[in-house]
Amino acid sequence: MNLDFRVHSDIRFAHTLPSSFYLDPSIFRHSKDRIFRNAWHYAGTLAPLESYRYVPRMLMPGFLDEPVIIVRKQPGKIHAMSNVCTHRGNLLVNSPGNQRVLHCGYHGRCFGLDGTCRSMPAFEEVPDFPSVHDDLKNFQVSSLGPMLFVQLGESGYLTPVIQDIRQRMVGYDFDGLTAMPALNQEFEIEAHWALYVDNYLEGFHVPFVHPGLNASLDMEAYAYETHAFHNLQLGFGKDGDELIVPDGSSPKQGKHVIAYYWWIWPNIMLNCYSWGVSLNIVNPIGPKRTLIQFETFLFDPADQGRFLQSGIVQTEIEDEEIVLQVQKGIQSSAYDRGRYSPVHEKCVHHFHQLIARAMNEGPERETDLNFV
Ligand code: FES
Ligand SMILES: [Fe+2]
Repeated sequence: MNLDFRVHSDIRFAHTLPSSFYLDPSIFRHSKDRIFRNAWHYAGTLAPLESYRYVPRMLMPGFLDEPVIIVRKQPGKIHAMSNVCTHRGNLLVNSPGNQRVLHCGYHGRCFGLDGTCRSMPAFEEVPDFPSVHDDLKNFQVSSLGPMLFVQLGESGYLTPVIQDIRQRMVGYDFDGLTAMPALNQEFEIEAHWALYVDNYLEGFHVPFVHPGLNASLDMEAYAYETHAFHNLQLGFGKDGDELIVPDGSSPKQGKHVIAYYWWIWPNIMLNCYSWGVSLNIVNPIGPKRTLIQFETFLFDPADQGRFLQSGIVQTEIEDEEIVLQVQKGIQSSAYDRGRYSPVHEKCVHHFHQLIARAMNEGPERETDLNFV
């Protein structure tokens, strides 16, 4: 199995990822540890924590299956910890609750809401018990308005990403968004998760694939920006369209931004419109199976009209059709890698470089082969 992926740092000379990345089941298995285990994950909304002290959540169900507990320490103070009892691995919490101490339902081990192991029946003779090794593991959390994110590893990359988003969109009231679970949808497709992301990261295909969206965007003005772990596509409208927020740092200053399409490594898509946010999470299930979660957040929960007229579902259907065709195409022995358009495919190139780096820098291989 070849895990030595190389994507040239100069887009003009670069080739796309080889088909094996999308097709080889063993590479898919490696991507779980190398890409997703250390990534930030969407962990649902903060709304239930207005009524409960803690809620259990499963991160990436069907793939990572990481059970966590989200705890509200005090208003506005959230933390996350493992939902796995440190005795023999039972799941501690199965439903939201308000108790101040968590009791494991298997043999009665007790934990504080900060994760500290407090006590356990029949352990009096065990020396050095409880110790820090008996505490629940803590995880980093971050939030943007009502959206909560959790990180299982050490990387702190989401904090600067969220700072950048807030700075770029000063005046966009993320904290005024309301989660609208009734408007959420899931789409399951028979394709590799990264093909879906590749397609999202360029507007190149809009005139070819999305006639409706194409009519509402000024594709001459469409712009791309890449940063360390996130990138941005700016969708500009036509004269007279509703402006989201003034975009002070855009090279097309003065034009009307009608959509900010933020992508955050590796699978988070935050689409910001004048009516609110459509958050898309791309969940790998298998090498050829992906579940895309669409969550909706509105500024005005009573006004669903503009969301319903946004054409999001039609665009999704068109995207799925093309991604399914590409999934079939890359299985051909006649195709392996392509080239990038330096004008339109900067963000795809950025994504592929991050994949190459993550896949090459696994625990078995410390040398830096990235961006060659
Ligand atoms: S597994 Fe929790 S007390 Fe035994
Ligand atoms: Fe699309």
